[in-house]
Amino acid sequence: MSIVYGTETGNSKKLAGQLAGLAKQHQVVTKLVSLEQYKTSELTREENFFVIISTQGDGEPPKAAKKFYDYVHNGIGNLGKMNFSVLALGDRAYPLFCKAGEDVFDRLQSAGARPVIPLTRCDAQYTDTAQAWFHQVMAFMEATESAEAAASEPAAAALAHTAPAKTEKKYYEGTVSEHINLNDKG
Ligand SMILES: Cc1cc2nc3c(=O)[nH]c(=O)nc-3n(C[C@H](O)[C@H](O)[C@H](O)COP(=O)(O)O)c2cc1C
Repeated sequence: MSIVYGTETGNSKKLAGQLAGLAKQHQVVTKLVSLEQYKTSELTREENFFVIISTQGDGEPPKAAKKFYDYVHNGIGNLGKMNFSVLALGDRAYPLFCKAGEDVFDRLQSAGARPVIPLTRCDAQYTDTAQAWFHQVMAFMEATESAEAAASEPAAAALAHTAPAKTEKKYYEGTVSEHINLNDKG
């Protein structure tokens, strides 16, 4: 499987590394690559393609993902071999919430790729949503690999039984003393 990420401040890269670590634990052969380095000529050969990408500026992709983003918006060819999903990082405080991830998802789907997990949007607190998406990705990959091995059980069957994601997050109690919207005018 391929895990590709587009990041500005490192969150998507960190998550992509975590997913790759999880895949390794599950003995799934994985290619992990930044969208800046990704060879777009390989896209039509991808079979299992998982994208983690943030939104920057005013609904734009990170600078490092611009080349890939422009490529998918300009006739990418037939992606009929591809199973895919997108984890879109963003922040609801912005009007164009997770726009870059949505755009990539829509473009891959219109080029014939199969969304095996729905587009998943993450708000500023992204850990739990990302973990749940990881869990779905791994369930899909395990189902795909065992289906290939046994040529019997459909991949979707495993997805129907996904258990809730485990998180290693710690919770602390606190009091909100002041609430300032940093994205407000001025
Ligand atoms: C300057 C700036 C602009 C942003 N613009 C958007 C936006 O338009 N829409 C959105 O959903 N999130 C926006 N975000 C939030 C980021 O997508 C979010 O912080 C994300 O976790 C960053 O992931 P990354 O470190 O992988 O780039 C913006 C963040 C910054 C710093």
